[in-house]
Amino acid sequence: MKAKEIRNKYLKFFEKNGHKIIPSAPLIPENDPSVLFTTAGMQPLVPYLLGEKHPAGTRLTDYQKCVRTVDIEEVGDNRHLTYFEMLGNWSLGDYFKEESIQMSFDFLTKELEIPVEKLSVTCFAGDEDAPRDDVSAKCWEKAGIPKERIYFYGKSDNWWIAGEEGPCGPDTEMFYDTGKPACGSDCQPSCDCGKYVEIWNNVFMEYFKHKDGKYTKLVQKNVDTGLGLERMTMLLQGKETPFDTELFAPIMQKLAELAKNDNIQSRRIIAEHLRSSMMIISDGGRPSNIDRGYILRRLIRRMIRHLNKIEIPLQELSTLIEINVENLKEMYPELEKNKDIIKNVIIEEKEKFTKTLAHGEREFEKEMKKAKENGLTQIPGEIVFKLYDTYGFPPEVTKELATEKGFTIEEDKFQELFKKHQEKSRQGATQKFKGGLADQNEKTISYHTATHLLHQALKTVLGDHVKQSGSNITEERLRFDFTHPQKMTKEEIQKVEDLVNEQIKRDLKVKCEEMTYEDAKKSGAIGLFTDKYGEKVKVYTIGDFSKEICGGPHVTHTGDMGTFKIKKEESSSSGIRRIKAVLIK
Ligand code: ALA
Repeated sequence: MKAKEIRNKYLKFFEKNGHKIIPSAPLIPENDPSVLFTTAGMQPLVPYLLGEKHPAGTRLTDYQKCVRTVDIEEVGDNRHLTYFEMLGNWSLGDYFKEESIQMSFDFLTKELEIPVEKLSVTCFAGDEDAPRDDVSAKCWEKAGIPKERIYFYGKSDNWWIAGEEGPCGPDTEMFYDTGKPACGSDCQPSCDCGKYVEIWNNVFMEYFKHKDGKYTKLVQKNVDTGLGLERMTMLLQGKETPFDTELFAPIMQKLAELAKNDNIQSRRIIAEHLRSSMMIISDGGRPSNIDRGYILRRLIRRMIRHLNKIEIPLQELSTLIEINVENLKEMYPELEKNKDIIKNVIIEEKEKFTKTLAHGEREFEKEMKKAKENGLTQIPGEIVFKLYDTYGFPPEVTKELATEKGFTIEEDKFQELFKKHQEKSRQGATQKFKGGLADQNEKTISYHTATHLLHQALKTVLGDHVKQSGSNITEERLRFDFTHPQKMTKEEIQKVEDLVNEQIKRDLKVKCEEMTYEDAKKSGAIGLFTDKYGEKVKVYTIGDFSKEICGGPHVTHTGDMGTFKIKKEESSSSGIRRIKAVLIK
């Protein structure tokens, strides 16, 4: 069975069982700077797990795009992926253990036709925070799993929470027996010899863990489940790794054809990081030196290092991207829509990295020479950091080169300096986005409305790929950052200016409505800066021209705003343009 079919079967099955299919949230959480990427299907649903009403009801299902990056260095073995798709179903205070377990059992054995003999399950063993989950065990037995294949484990195996604080609870996990020989007489689902592979996790979320470590009960009992699509596809096809399934086969094959110095591990790393980077870029991510941007940068750069290693010319990147778009566009139509941006971002990053590598390697050699002269066998953390900070030379490359020469690097010290540096950059970024909106007067309010007109005009003139990535307003001017791969032409600037001025002249009425985020999205409103996914948001409509989610305030009519003039169009960072504009009265 192909991945696409498994996804469809899943969504249909839960729809048939009263669930509403909701769309995947973007990989980049819409307004949650506390997490880098969406890592689980429950993440965009937290407010609803805590008791808020979801517009689609109490039974939901979806496929969610996820990135988990704790594992970057492990990609290349046969199972770790940084990007994966999670199929999930939720009960928001609706059904609980019995129904959830019965549906999982039916889906696995009837829809996917997995023989019961291949399934084992695990339940929570109980501790001072929550009782042993005999209820789930009974439900499994009733459904058809024999007692001897029901295991009990403690919190480290059978309790689920995203991070340190939040909704959580005991979980029950389903395991698939690959048929490999047992590693010993005590071989169990919890051991990682490879015989048992976890396929699905149902979390019974009825607790909230507080920062101080205490647990309290939530207002409702929820179910949160997650099934990894790539892994299930691999198992059902009897393949050894996800890279052997149709999700990766075309790219793996092309890499094998192109490689002059083939190595399967490098090919897996390239295939995986390419898909992951493409998905992140498609959802608006751009390489940078902090947070999300840095993860994306590492993914692209690690991929390039391995292309170099197996001697594939970097000009082939464009072809490799095309192959992935062709292969994955049915599952992710956004890849085709954003193909040009994806190519531009990856190729630009490749160019930067190539320069950095050449330059950094020279500096590295100098430092090595000094270290040798001083009789050191370890490269000091300050030097690793200097190579990174001044020359952009990635610490993992320094480490690799040092290892080749029998040196180690002082990792702790580097991490300490790196953390300090990230903290500073973050403070800088917060500072940058401050100002303007806190201090409202007639002028800043006009600039705010002009920003909406500009945003829509850019979309109309340049295309739908334009997304706001920053905005700053003072009494004198507006500044607007947006995604666009190249410099705007004079004609494009003129067109945008004219379009905005036309709307000002039309003296359009500005209307404000409150609605749920879902409804706002459905109504075609643009804008990402909401408070929280799912809460009521304000939508400002300017005549028939613009509709955008925003906190306001705005002018009531566009007529008195003055004449709009773009003063500057320049690059802000990779793939992001910046416009400065004024209103002249
Ligand atoms: N949220 C649970 C997980 O990610 C289902 O495993």
